[in-house]
Amino acid sequence: MAKEPQLLYGPGIRVDVSRALTQIIRHGRTIEWVRANRLPWLSTPLHQQLLYGTLRHYLSLERLVASHLKKPLKAKDLDIKHLMLVGAYQLLHTQIAAHAAINESVSATKTLGKTWAKGLVNAILRNIQRQSQSRPFPKWNPRLEHPDWMADKLTDQYPDKAAELMAANSQRAPMSLRINTCVTSTQDYKNQLEAAAIGYTEGPWPEALILDQPQPTSDLPGWSRGECAVQDLAAQSAGQIMMQLLSSNAVENGALRLLDACAAPGGKLFHIKEALTAAGLRHQLYALDNKAKRLDDIAHIGARLRHSTHLQKHTPISDDRQKINAEDSIVLGCADAGESPLPFTQAFDAILIDAPCSGSGTIRRNPDIRLLLTPGALQQMPPQQKRLVQNLWQHVKPGGTLVYSTCSVFAEENDQVIHSFLDKNKDAQVIPLRLDLDLVRPTEYGLQLLPTNALTDGFYYCALSKMPGLVSSS
Ligand SMILES: C[S@@+](CC[C@H](N)C(=O)[O-])C[C@H]1O[C@@H](n2cnc3c(N)ncnc32)[C@H](O)[C@@H]1O
Repeated sequence: MAKEPQLLYGPGIRVDVSRALTQIIRHGRTIEWVRANRLPWLSTPLHQQLLYGTLRHYLSLERLVASHLKKPLKAKDLDIKHLMLVGAYQLLHTQIAAHAAINESVSATKTLGKTWAKGLVNAILRNIQRQSQSRPFPKWNPRLEHPDWMADKLTDQYPDKAAELMAANSQRAPMSLRINTCVTSTQDYKNQLEAAAIGYTEGPWPEALILDQPQPTSDLPGWSRGECAVQDLAAQSAGQIMMQLLSSNAVENGALRLLDACAAPGGKLFHIKEALTAAGLRHQLYALDNKAKRLDDIAHIGARLRHSTHLQKHTPISDDRQKINAEDSIVLGCADAGESPLPFTQAFDAILIDAPCSGSGTIRRNPDIRLLLTPGALQQMPPQQKRLVQNLWQHVKPGGTLVYSTCSVFAEENDQVIHSFLDKNKDAQVIPLRLDLDLVRPTEYGLQLLPTNALTDGFYYCALSKMPGLVSSS
């Protein structure tokens, strides 16, 4: 827990964080939206600590503050409520001096143009401070940091692990790197980290390193030269799985044709590119996303990592290969991967579907998810996911492979999607997977990674092979 260098920061930070929380809670914005549209609200480590920390403990802080209020605040004063939550977070979960936390919160009422709330903020935070000193708080219960429906679902689906899982959701996520082996070697990169006095441990595969402390990317050696990417080990598992499947299935003639169907911003895409290159496997790599703006993100990140990309605006995409004249270049296209026809004339040896999902496996990294996700929003995911798998299956060659992944821990987005697909597609066969990670849970059809392994987010992976000579019934 960082101490606040108080003189550098005034009440402005509390105001920024209160405003960011209000955007998230009132308008359903995400932290990603705040980063993209209100960057100053996240501009210092203290901003980030206060925003992420308050979101992690939002529900319990909300109950605590409410218990001290004589009457609830009006809806239009959500910013004042958020100021109190941020204040209570500082008092209970950080080492920031209590007088600084309280005084800065009180001063922030002026910046918000609500000086009437000065006395109220002061009184509530002082009460909370006194309460925390005079009698021990009840034992922390991670369940209470989740909405009831989510806690119930996790308990139902992980009866033996739910408490641990919910506790893991409130931890800070580690920062893992993927060394870009097209640009440097892991050994060289480790030397650079050591020279920069940045502590790390080795990951489960050679290109993975886990930093002892999160760092701003601008402080990482070789960042601007594209020598590494930030990528959770659960997300890096996609590259491991694809390589397991492809190395045993390498085509005899020509290059492997591969599609990343939901590719932006390209984390897994570039990892696969780097792994194929390192293994000396010839390949033609295609990537789709249904949002044009996000394809620009792929191109931008690719440029930093020194991977050539080619945005193909016209269809069919595959016919343009010769014009691009580079087996190396990753061809990007904008299309709804769940809709036929897709802009390809030839099938693929392997397709990765990293499906849009609830993100319930990444709550510790994206603590806004636990407040924004609703049962209704979750219910809308499986039909989309099923549509993607069904449509993309037609583009897998007989003998080829489809890998389905999500960053969700909920069965309805994972095994249940595959179950319903297998019901309709008799030419699909599950391929058993293995991963060199602790605490991976085999499911009926795939593997479930959980954040209870401190090093990974919660991800699901399943691989299917298309049996030659059989046809899908739908
Ligand atoms: C989980 S993210 C992919 C993350 C990416 N694989 C990575 O590792 O960086 C899902 C992506 O799917 C895209 N998407 C959502 N629905 C889609 C659809 N119907 N067709 C194609 N892409 C879609 C979203 O825009 C989003 O970029």
